[in-house]
Amino acid sequence: MTRSKIAGIGYYVPERVVTNHDLAEYMDTNDEWIQERTGIKERRYAVKHEETSTTMGVEAAKIAIERAGITKEDVDFIIFATLSPDYYFPGCGVLLQRELGIPGIGALDIRNQCSGFVYGLSIADQFVKSGMYKNILLVGAEFHSSGLDYSTRGRNVTVIFGDGAGAAIIQPTTEENRGILTTHLHADGTHAEQLAYINPGAHGGKWLGKKGFGYPDPDKFGGMFLTQHMVDEEQVFPNMNGPAVFKFAVTKFPEVINEALEATGLNAKDIDMFVPHQANLRISQFVQKKLRLPDEKVWNNIQKYGNTTAASIPIALCEAWEAGKIKDGDLVCLAAFGSGFTWGSALIRWGG
Ligand code: UT7
Repeated sequence: MTRSKIAGIGYYVPERVVTNHDLAEYMDTNDEWIQERTGIKERRYAVKHEETSTTMGVEAAKIAIERAGITKEDVDFIIFATLSPDYYFPGCGVLLQRELGIPGIGALDIRNQCSGFVYGLSIADQFVKSGMYKNILLVGAEFHSSGLDYSTRGRNVTVIFGDGAGAAIIQPTTEENRGILTTHLHADGTHAEQLAYINPGAHGGKWLGKKGFGYPDPDKFGGMFLTQHMVDEEQVFPNMNGPAVFKFAVTKFPEVINEALEATGLNAKDIDMFVPHQANLRISQFVQKKLRLPDEKVWNNIQKYGNTTAASIPIALCEAWEAGKIKDGDLVCLAAFGSGFTWGSALIRWGG
């Protein structure tokens, strides 16, 4: 049976390190609060006007392509996951394609936030298994620092996020018991505004009015992408109901992992490496405890990079692999939860 496998993986993070102390210069926060509540010590920020989600994605992609033993001309499809695209439209997929100089192939952008990489992996898996494509380039990249609120009002969101990119090449494998064994995707839009970056948008006040976020006059401004009022009232930043997201995440992470284990007849003790989306060290630790996994079977790097959303799983997966913690035949479990709400999991028998 043909399965798909991760044939090459790479990541890129910007050079600039921003510590919790650095952020405390702009807003009322402190290193102790951030570390205690999230585990984060520092994150990376891209260079404005030089780097973007696309340029970071390109750097990660080049590494993944080389490690897969192919050339960029072999790539036959692109999937790009980001919530911080260079443009409102078109998406980053075509921009990355242009930068790589491989016109003509399909390029798909997906918007599934923290679950973006797992969603992208599942899409790539289906395309490869059906025989449609043989070398899919899957990228997750974020330029969060360009859109955060650096005043105290935004502190619960801003201290969490960081910039970076990860990429993978997905290829077919016929090797027995290797490759992507299963993927599981879920969403519940009931909670869409609990973690959202609403303006600019074409909502025309419809949903904001409903949720009481103070949209000024939907009839007058309906359909506009960005109003002066939004700017004046500083409604142009991401907002998050942290405790609500936390509560949902700690329920859905174990649920979707168990779903993947049940689908494959495996147990949590069979997992050799668990790579959770890096949302909060406390969430990862909670899930680790639920699965009864020892520390050496969980890869966390939120301490260094913060939450890089669509990039967080490929960066962590790549780091774990580079550190020699993922070997041929290992069972790797990926799981993510985030804005939407969306969540998902994947089980991979490494190699192939
Ligand atoms: O990957 C996408 C999914 N996102 C997540 O998974 C995030 C999930 N949620 C979380 O990780 C946590 O809810 C946070 C880390 C965002 C917040 O931690 P918390 O323990 O839930 O804190 P809280 O929001 O309940 O706030 C507690 C207090 C508040 O002050 P008062 O009202 O008790 O006086 C906040 O204003 O902490 C305050 N606070 C801060 N203080 C210092 C919020 N952010 C900060 C900050 N520095 N950065």
